[in-house]
Amino acid sequence: MNQTHNAELVVMGNKTLGTLDDRLYGQFIELAGRCVNGGIYDPGSPRARADGVRTDVLEALKAQRPGFVRYPGGCATAYFNWQDLVGPVSERPRARLFRGHGGQAQSTAFGIPEAWALSRELGAELYLCVNANTQSPEDAANLVEYLNSSQPTQYADLRRAHGREEPYGVKLFGLGNEIYGQWQPGQKTAAQYAEWCAEAIRQMKAVDPTIRVAVCGLGRPDPEWDRTVMFRLIGLADMLSMHNYFGRPCFEDLMAASRVCEKFFRATDQIIDEAMDIPLGAHSRAHRELGALPEVTRRPGIAFDEWNLWYRSRHGTPHDVEEVYHYADALALASLMHVILRHAASVDLANVSLAVNTIAPILTDRERMVCQTTWHAHKLIRDAHDRGRVVESVADAPVFKAKHERFFCGIVDVEKARDENLSTLEHFDDVQALDALASISEDRRALRLSLVQKLPDRPLDVTLDLHGLVPASETMTVRRLARDGDVWTENTLEHPDRVRIETATEPFAARFTLPPASLTILEIPIKGEPQ
Ligand code: AHR
Repeated sequence: MNQTHNAELVVMGNKTLGTLDDRLYGQFIELAGRCVNGGIYDPGSPRARADGVRTDVLEALKAQRPGFVRYPGGCATAYFNWQDLVGPVSERPRARLFRGHGGQAQSTAFGIPEAWALSRELGAELYLCVNANTQSPEDAANLVEYLNSSQPTQYADLRRAHGREEPYGVKLFGLGNEIYGQWQPGQKTAAQYAEWCAEAIRQMKAVDPTIRVAVCGLGRPDPEWDRTVMFRLIGLADMLSMHNYFGRPCFEDLMAASRVCEKFFRATDQIIDEAMDIPLGAHSRAHRELGALPEVTRRPGIAFDEWNLWYRSRHGTPHDVEEVYHYADALALASLMHVILRHAASVDLANVSLAVNTIAPILTDRERMVCQTTWHAHKLIRDAHDRGRVVESVADAPVFKAKHERFFCGIVDVEKARDENLSTLEHFDDVQALDALASISEDRRALRLSLVQKLPDRPLDVTLDLHGLVPASETMTVRRLARDGDVWTENTLEHPDRVRIETATEPFAARFTLPPASLTILEIPIKGEPQ
């Protein structure tokens, strides 16, 4: 490891990487484990309102100001026909058997109207995942008609019969979930899936041309899936959905999760770039196989609609995949958010997976709730980089060695993780000790810096070069992820505040020291844009 404890950070306010949008900060409530049933919706809890929604959980979700809420899955989507999740609760099937994840009965009481109302209350959009596994393209279009049509037609009338005259106006849809996987009923090949989607998107958009539709991508280990899907759907699909989970039970390795995520985005961007060439292929396969060349009005974006740290808990345990997060995980999560935000130009939406109990930042029992370490990190980054634009920043800092699974490590076997020679591992010699993200507020009056200091055992002296940006005040706001204990400290129901956010006003300084293993946010008032 480089022995210096110094780093330089140059912020280039005139180099925009992307625009910050609320859709980069989504939440995901799945009819899985205790996420919805027994989580946000828990009529038996003394903390629940008359409609069964837990007020404490609702407040914790509100504090994250989500741009959208994904529902009902995840893998759960494949076990629900949309018709089971609408209408009077007494007329819905009582529960469906979610045969994945160890087999669980999941109540249908918190259905689509309830998810829509919750999203509204959170100030968020609803992002509905459609059952492309066991339902038809026709069903998908009927769902859009039910939700969005104001015409006097069968499914819009069904909505009216269910007591709602006004269309819901849901604009975000995903077609299926991880449909490439043998863990899903209705698994399809890329070609079968692409045909299903082509038909569904045409029918869905015939009902409401203003919707935006994401299709399942797979990512790095199998780019052929993405190529096949995008070849068929370029010009039809608006977004390519991607999932990835990260983490390893070693501090340095956890800090390398962002490196794997970075590669994942680069590979996905390349797939989308390739797809953008398809409409140009007048003399090629595109012309032969697609007949008319597709018209593309906008480059498809990435829907990173499942991401998180997930490396200890398993499906089928009594509390299905309920992960307890350490302080170190919170730093890794902040660093992953940096990667997402740095790619804001190509990411249309992103949501941490999931919101409550199941691999989630919020944990509950019947009476109590705890915001885990990762909840605090998510809030720090979400609040720091609110609307505005992400700008380039370059850090020159010491580096260290680490390793990380190449893909979807989630569910890493903790015992196996000790084997350093696994072929699934990628070794890095140069994980930077300082991971910084810079953004400029929408009103152009504040530079926001989030700084993850990744050295576990020593402080880092940072020299800041604002490169033309001029501080407008002698003070700045500093927010920190504070902890009582070491990097493996957790928040628990009994000790909910060991890891927390602390805020202070401090003198502005172009040289400062970041403590070992830390997350610090600086909000620096500035005079205006750099020349
Ligand atoms: O619960 C998390 C699961 O992980 C989601 O259902 C699925 O989409 C992913 O494999």
